[in-house]
Amino acid sequence: MCGIIGCAGRDGETLDVLVHGLSKLEYRGYDSAGVALAGSDLDVCKTAGEIDDLRAALEERSPSGSVGIGHTRWSTHGPPTDENAHPHLDCNREVAVVHNGIIENYQALRDELSTAGHEFRSDTDTEVVPHLIEDALADGADPEEAVREAIARLEGSYAVSVVMSGVDRIFAARNDSPLVLGIDDEAYYLASDVPAFRDHTDRVIYLADGEFAVVDADGYRVTTLDGEPVEKTVDTVDWDPEETGKSGYDHFMLKEIHEQPRALRQCLRGRVDELAGQVDLADLGDLSPRGIHLVACGTSYHAAVYAAQLFQQAGIPAQAFLASEYATSPPPIGDALVIGVTQSGETADTLSALREARKRGARTLAVTNTVGSTAARECDHAMYIRAGPEIGVAATKTFSSQIAALNLLALAITSVGDAREVISGLRDLPGAVQEILDTSTARKIAEAYRDAESYFFIGRGLHYPVALEGALKMKEITYKHAEGFAAGELKHGPLALVTQDTPVFAIVTGDDEQATKTVGNVKEVEARDAPVVAVTDGASDVERYADHVLEVPDTHRRVAAVVANVQLQLVAYHTADMLGRSIDKPRNLAKSVTVE
Ligand code: M6R
Repeated sequence: MCGIIGCAGRDGETLDVLVHGLSKLEYRGYDSAGVALAGSDLDVCKTAGEIDDLRAALEERSPSGSVGIGHTRWSTHGPPTDENAHPHLDCNREVAVVHNGIIENYQALRDELSTAGHEFRSDTDTEVVPHLIEDALADGADPEEAVREAIARLEGSYAVSVVMSGVDRIFAARNDSPLVLGIDDEAYYLASDVPAFRDHTDRVIYLADGEFAVVDADGYRVTTLDGEPVEKTVDTVDWDPEETGKSGYDHFMLKEIHEQPRALRQCLRGRVDELAGQVDLADLGDLSPRGIHLVACGTSYHAAVYAAQLFQQAGIPAQAFLASEYATSPPPIGDALVIGVTQSGETADTLSALREARKRGARTLAVTNTVGSTAARECDHAMYIRAGPEIGVAATKTFSSQIAALNLLALAITSVGDAREVISGLRDLPGAVQEILDTSTARKIAEAYRDAESYFFIGRGLHYPVALEGALKMKEITYKHAEGFAAGELKHGPLALVTQDTPVFAIVTGDDEQATKTVGNVKEVEARDAPVVAVTDGASDVERYADHVLEVPDTHRRVAAVVANVQLQLVAYHTADMLGRSIDKPRNLAKSVTVE
C-alpha cells in the first residue's frame, strides 16, 4: 500500500532523508514513487517503477528545499504511470500533495473543479486535493486555512501531506489511514509508518482520525480539523532500526522466518507462570466472553480459524470470519466479544469489521503486532503479539506469534483442563522452531517440486488452518497455484484434480483419531499417484505412504501447528527463490492493505 514520508529541519539533507524514508517503506508494496521539496519554489520529481528509478531520475535534477514530502504509490485509481505517481500538483504547480487511502467523493469534486476550469493531469482521486487548495488560496485563505478547507471537503479515507512553494511548513491530516509524527532534537518527520524515519528517532506521536498537524523546522502543532488544539503524548518505539535491515539474509522473509524463536519468546515473556499453570494478561482487564467472533484477513484469518477451535474446545462458542464479509454482512453478534486479528492493525477490511461490531454494541479486542495502530487504538482492548517489525509482504513470524498469543488468550479467558501442559508446550515452542530452522530439508523438497504447476495442502483440526496458510504462502511468493483443504474434504471434489503432477503436502502429527483419518486421506492421494510430502513428527505411520518427509519435533498438539507451518514457510521460500521471484515484494501485493 502507499507510503508517506515528510521532513522538516534537515537543511541540505531533506532529499536524502525522503528517499531513504521511501526505501524503508518499500515493504508496503508500491508501483511508483515521488518527492516534492518546497523552498522559495516547489520542486517535484516522480516516476513509475521502483525507488531506484526515482534515484535515477533525481540524478538528472536534484530538487532542493527546506521541507519536503515523498510517497510510494500502490495503484488504486489509474495505472502506475509517471503522471499518476504522487505528489500531485495544482494548476499553478505551487501546491504538492501526497495521499494514502481513497477519496470516495473524488468524482463529484473533480467534475466541479473541471467545470470551474481546473486542468487535471492524472487519473487519481488524490489530484482533487491540490486543486481544492488552489481554489481556497485564490479566495484569500492563508496556506493553513486553505489546506483545512480542502480537507473538510473530502469523504473517505486519507492520510494527506501538503507542501507549497514559499511556505516552509508541511500540513498533514488523517482519517482512516495512519499518520505518525517523528521528533528528534533538530528535525521533525511525518510518515505513514515508523520505519520511514526510525533511523533518525524513536520518539513518535500517533495522529488520530480527524486531526491536523503543522510541522516545520522549529516544531509541530496538532489540532482538530476545526483548529481546536489537541494535547498529544510522545511515545517511544521499542524496536531497533537494525531490526528493519536484512542482517545478512538474502531476503527479509528468510530473516523473519529465522527470527521466529526470538519473536515467540518475546510474545511469552512475562505472561506465563509455569509453576502455577497460569497466564497473566491482567492488562486486558476482565473479558469473560460468552461467545467470540474472530475477524481477520489472509494469514491472520488462518490464525483466527486456529484460535476459534481453541475457544470452542474450551466450551466458548467461537467462530472465525473473513473480515471483508463480516463488515458488510455481519451475523447476529449478541454479547460476543469481537476479536480483530491483524498484524498491522491497519487492514481496512478488519477495521471495518471491528467498527461494524462496535456499532452493534459489541466489545472489541485487537490482537496486533503494531502498538499505536488504528485497531489498537479503536478497540476496547489490545493485546500485542510482540513479533517485532515484519517487512516481507509474506507474513511469517507474525503468524507464529499470533498463534502463541491466541493460545495465551485462550488460557487466560477459559479454564482449559491441561493449562500446565499447554504452557509447557508454549515454553518449548521457540526451541522446537529453532530445531527446524537448524535441520530442515525443505530446500530439497523445493528442488524436487519447483516445476509443479499446482500444490495441495491438507490437514485436520488445528492443522487445517496450517494447510490454508501453507497454500497461501506458496501461491503468494511463487505465483503457482496452491490450495489448502480440510483433509476430509478432498474426496468431495478436489480429488478430481489430484494427479502425479500435483504434490500434496499432508500435515500429520500425533497418532490420535484425526491423525489416523488424515493418513487415510493420504492413502487416497497416494493411490492416484500424487507425490506426497508428509510433515510429521513420526507418531503415525504416514511416512509409509509418503515420497518425502519433513520432520517436526514431538511437541504439544496445540503448538505442533506452528512448527509444521515453519517447514511449509521454508518450502515456499526456497521454491520462490529457485524460481527467481520477488520474494519480499510479490507482484500485485502490499504489506498493509488499507483499502476495502
Ligand atoms: O496486517 P494484517 O494481519 O491485518 O494483514 C492481513 C493480510 O493482508 C495479511 O495477513 C496477508 O494475507 C499476508 N501478508 C500474506 O502473507
